[in-house]
Amino acid sequence: MTKSSVKPAEGKLGILVVGNGAVATTFMTGVLMTRKGLAKPIGSMTQYDKIRVGKGADKKYLKYNEIVPIAKLDDIVFGCWDVYPANAYQSAIYAEVLKEKDIEPVREELEAIKPMPAAFDKNYAKRLDGDNVKPCKTRWEMVEALREDIRRFKAEKGCSRIVVLWAASTEIYVPVDEKVHYSLSALEAAMKADDREHVAPSMCYAYAALTEGAPFIMGAPNTTVDIPAMWELAEKTQMPIAGKDFKTGQTLVKSGFSPMIGTRCLGLSGWFSTNILGNRDGLVLDEPANFRTKEVSKLSTLETILKPDVQPDLYGHGNDEDTQYYHKVRINYYPPRNDNKEGWDNIDIFGWMGYPMQIKINFLCRDSILAAPLCLDLCLLSDLAARAGRYGTQRFLSFFLKSPMHDYTQGEEAVNHLYQQYTMLKNAIREMGGYEADEEID
Ligand SMILES: NC(=O)c1ccc[n+]([C@@H]2O[C@H](COP(=O)([O-])OP(=O)(O)OC[C@H]3O[C@@H](n4cnc5c(N)ncnc54)[C@H](O)[C@@H]3O)[C@@H](O)[C@H]2O)c1
Repeated sequence: MTKSSVKPAEGKLGILVVGNGAVATTFMTGVLMTRKGLAKPIGSMTQYDKIRVGKGADKKYLKYNEIVPIAKLDDIVFGCWDVYPANAYQSAIYAEVLKEKDIEPVREELEAIKPMPAAFDKNYAKRLDGDNVKPCKTRWEMVEALREDIRRFKAEKGCSRIVVLWAASTEIYVPVDEKVHYSLSALEAAMKADDREHVAPSMCYAYAALTEGAPFIMGAPNTTVDIPAMWELAEKTQMPIAGKDFKTGQTLVKSGFSPMIGTRCLGLSGWFSTNILGNRDGLVLDEPANFRTKEVSKLSTLETILKPDVQPDLYGHGNDEDTQYYHKVRINYYPPRNDNKEGWDNIDIFGWMGYPMQIKINFLCRDSILAAPLCLDLCLLSDLAARAGRYGTQRFLSFFLKSPMHDYTQGEEAVNHLYQQYTMLKNAIREMGGYEADEEID
């Protein structure tokens, strides 16, 4: 590592997780177990992936931390907020994602991670009824209490930097409202006026994080930082933001598989995706208003990869108006499966002279096992971005996200294609490491 101008990763990195549920505790337990040499962080790009730098005779394949200064797992300190008071050990046991044998060796460390009271509004997640909640009267009070939490945690734990990651429940759908969400001053006024309809609790976490000099990552499909007011705040505070919605199971398959259909110029008339899921996330998503947020996020993936306007013969048929393929996504709450989600995809494609064919994909995945490495990578890379002086929406992190943020006010399109996202990721790492960006496929 020679040419990188990124500030070194000195001191402790505090990772404050909003939510202390299945994803959060699987993430924390995995990091703590890896640190002890008792587990391997499989699926994490920052821990395993090797990127080519240089070309021809000069080319070499390096791990991320050989190109840029990435924080060490040993330097991470965890904290969290949750509506329920259970500590991270109790919550990991409750989630039933990991076997006890994979939790017990780090029991003491997990028990020490006790959730701070949440900034919560039951109207945003009706099915939750925990009482570890801040007694704030207004949204602005929430912001102030959260800022105080971040400052206290940073001082008490002796952290040099903080990253805030949302791994809490999906909130109800908050449509973007130009009057409130298009400028920072309007958003601040709404917080002070306690406009509960337009200001979700997640926005208070994001506002508090950025103002305290911490990058903010949105792991759920919530609108939160996907609004011009937050882009303005990220620019003002010079902090990175990333979102939204971890790209774990079905959408990972979709964004990796649909390019094959497009590359081969095959037609698509319909894609039906359904899931059964039995964890608390599934319970919250069983509420139509919460599912709507997820649905919007999941639906966005295909539309920028297989475009009806670019290839009307291939992608312009199938829905009721016969202007586009039919795309449907369903999530069904089914308790017996707990965190082991089962996804089915039925893909109706067509070939030469329009003859129809079908592809079926049945993914028996483990939701939090897929999400945990994304949490780690998003936190480490957001911290890296901050040290590299990058702020605002981090498009190179789209690789990890189901519904990547983009400037929709300027007509910019999100990049959903997994391999284009991978190129963006590699090039950002190359550039931060002082190497040249390129478009080669390796
Ligand atoms: N696991 C995946 O594959 C995956 C993929 C994409 C997105 N996600 C999203 O990640 C999030 C977490 O998933 P999970 O399976 O861990 O869910 P979970 O229900 O196990 O955990 C979420 C936790 O967040 C807490 N919470 C809710 N609102 C809060 C608030 N305002 N402040 C603090 N805590 C709050 C809940 O009490 C709960 O303990 C969900 O939004 C989910 O949609 C998960």
